[in-house]
Amino acid sequence: MNLSLLFLGKFLRHGTAIASLAPSSPWLSRATVRNVDWDRARVLIELGAGTGPITRELVDRARPETRLIVLERDPDFVRVLRERFEPRPNLEIIEGDVRDLAAMLKDRGIDRVDNVISGLPVPSFPKDLQRDLIRNVSQILDPAGTYNQITELPWVYLRFYRSFFYEVRFAFEPRNIPPAGAYYCRGVRPID
Ligand SMILES: C[S@@+](CC[C@H](N)C(=O)[O-])C[C@H]1O[C@@H](n2cnc3c(N)ncnc32)[C@H](O)[C@@H]1O
Repeated sequence: MNLSLLFLGKFLRHGTAIASLAPSSPWLSRATVRNVDWDRARVLIELGAGTGPITRELVDRARPETRLIVLERDPDFVRVLRERFEPRPNLEIIEGDVRDLAAMLKDRGIDRVDNVISGLPVPSFPKDLQRDLIRNVSQILDPAGTYNQITELPWVYLRFYRSFFYEVRFAFEPRNIPPAGAYYCRGVRPID
């Protein structure tokens, strides 16, 4: 199956819910996880995995003891993810909406994660969902952990992510089409 065509078809049908014309390039995928401390990470979650370019990096780099939880809402993408990456003893692919993240992690007995890797189109989420997501992240993210977010609009959302996190750095990746990057966010600000 041509993953780029599948992705483009989803974008044409669902627009901002997919928020990108093509899967992340290998360069963008690598940049997105560049700051992960693989020796230390015990639990890592990926949100909005699409066809799995970042998942590829995670499964290639994670130690066998690192638990990988991958969430995606679109059933066709989930089918692709399962074909590409299952079975692996340390990986679980969940079909579901990030709205239900807290319950999904609770069901699995997960109360601490070292890194959240997000491909979600967070700026186009409704405000209540943005806040729920960040609140959930604040409850599970290890104090030393990071929330990493891809973007195809370099730097544009710096202020947006700084409204949620104390520390936000941006890594530019010009080799992606279009040029893109990742925010590395640390220290969730209190949410009222
Ligand atoms: C910009 S794409 C990124 C895909 C992939 N991570 C990549 O880098 O190519 C956004 C992904 O988030 C998924 N998504 C959007 N809203 C979601 C939600 N509420 N819950 C779970 N996944 C969602 C979409 O189905 C899509 O696969």
